[in-house]
Amino acid sequence: MSADTQKKRAGEAAALRVEAGMTVGLGTGSTAAWFVKALAARNLADLRCVPTSEATAELARDLGLPLSTLEDSPRIDLTVDGADEVGPGLALIKGGGAALLREKLVWEASARCLVIADAAKVVKTLGAFALPIEVVAFGHKTTANRIADVLADHDIAMPARVRTASPQAASDRVASIGAQYVRTDGGNLIYDAKCGAIHDPARLADDLKLITGVVEHGLFLDLADEAIIGTDGGVDLLTP
Ligand code: 5RP
Repeated sequence: MSADTQKKRAGEAAALRVEAGMTVGLGTGSTAAWFVKALAARNLADLRCVPTSEATAELARDLGLPLSTLEDSPRIDLTVDGADEVGPGLALIKGGGAALLREKLVWEASARCLVIADAAKVVKTLGAFALPIEVVAFGHKTTANRIADVLADHDIAMPARVRTASPQAASDRVASIGAQYVRTDGGNLIYDAKCGAIHDPARLADDLKLITGVVEHGLFLDLADEAIIGTDGGVDLLTP
């Protein structure tokens, strides 16, 4: 069975958790897109949906879901979002879709957070997936040097690399300095850190946050209340 079928199962199961009248955080990525589609199909009354990216906003708008913003709806009942890795205690790596900052803002404003993923995302140790780190573009190479120092302090030898667009996407962009870099919805850059194994995610999260120029990182710790994992047989439910 394909990962996409597992993602669809997880997204559809999550949509059943939403009730009429709720304010719902809409995640970003292919799994979250399945959730958004299943939610729209339910046609629930009086929903308010807060998207975590422009891409999700566009999808939700096209499907007729009522959109709101974090400014207008600062208290979210339930956020449903994907993840790149789901580790022990529902510690997560997120940001493969470069939406980690808005995602974390929406997650932290949510009474309940539900992570949805295909079975391959569940890992024993975080870090095989490169950890996304969102960085202000101004002086980003000096910020990258300080990120490398922090990674080295965590026995991670490989420096983080700035994320670039695919060659096609890059050539479609207006030529200007740095145009080849992926930009987040907030206009920042993403550095991906190939950690291998993250032995102390909480300490790494704290250390990265202290670096001037780092806006946010993709470690989502103590935020997910439950996970719905799509499998070949149906879905598995995980709690921290
Ligand atoms: C976007 C994310 C996504 O949730 C994560 O990358 C998973 O994506 P997908 O559901 O497409 O596998 O964090 O920033």
